[in-house]
Amino acid sequence: MILLDGKATALQIKTEIKESVEQLKTEGKRVPNLIAVLVGENTASLSYVKSKVKACNMVGFDSSLIHLDADTTEAVLLDLIKQLNTDSTVDGYIVQLPLPKHIDANKILLAVAPEKDVDGFHPVNMGKLTLNLETIIPATPYGIITLIKAYGIETKGKRVVVLGRSNIVGRPTSILLSLNKPYGNATVTLAHSKTKNLDKLLLEADIIIAAIGKPHFVTAAMVKEGVVIIDVGINRVEDASRKRGYRLVGDVAFDTVAPKASYITPVPGGVGPMTIAMLLKNTLLAYKG
Ligand code: GUN
Repeated sequence: MILLDGKATALQIKTEIKESVEQLKTEGKRVPNLIAVLVGENTASLSYVKSKVKACNMVGFDSSLIHLDADTTEAVLLDLIKQLNTDSTVDGYIVQLPLPKHIDANKILLAVAPEKDVDGFHPVNMGKLTLNLETIIPATPYGIITLIKAYGIETKGKRVVVLGRSNIVGRPTSILLSLNKPYGNATVTLAHSKTKNLDKLLLEADIIIAAIGKPHFVTAAMVKEGVVIIDVGINRVEDASRKRGYRLVGDVAFDTVAPKASYITPVPGGVGPMTIAMLLKNTLLAYKG
């Protein structure tokens, strides 16, 4: 079993980005600038956006967090988006999801200028991705394929089961892996809550991408010997022995599944750090235009 070390791979990518930023500075140019917008007090979201801003600063980007009250109206958020779209000092920005229920997330995502949409969530960018055109690839799916590539894992002709059909992870990942590209060409099944015979599908899978947000959902009995496991889950489970009162676990029961796997991502330290590294990469690409 080989551990897919997302932390180390992400560090490599961040180091390359840092070098690019240093080059820009020596040329007397301004540095890329990423803005993160958060509405409300979701503690997990706050921790994610803080990590994103911190990572930006580590590679030498400008970055700041715009943290709005939970009762911010849709109109106010749309106004902010208009400003960010026209602010030439902002290369890219993200609106952290989920948004409070009174705000229509689709309306917000549609308002983001596609060229500043470093999350790759705008329909124009999603459409390009689907059509195999050059575009901004959402950070988590981009991180997954980059990790697969970094370890030389073959996807061509392989049976992949993606667990979870979210717009952020499952659906774009299923599309990417099915594209006629070096990291694609897989036979992909996108499984979800209405899928029948999931156990049979999983047992036939060469590669499983678990992104359903259910702690330890995938167990050893569900996977075949030699399977490649990409665990996207970041679930908080109570743990009184930890100072913060919880620990993070994936969607896969790592301890029992790992011995059967050929490759597996740990949680934490797998897909999570890759997501942040690819967001930085997307920001650099948006900066370069
Ligand atoms: N919520 C969970 N993942 C993401 C992400 O990659 N981007 C944004 N904007 N919100 C998220």
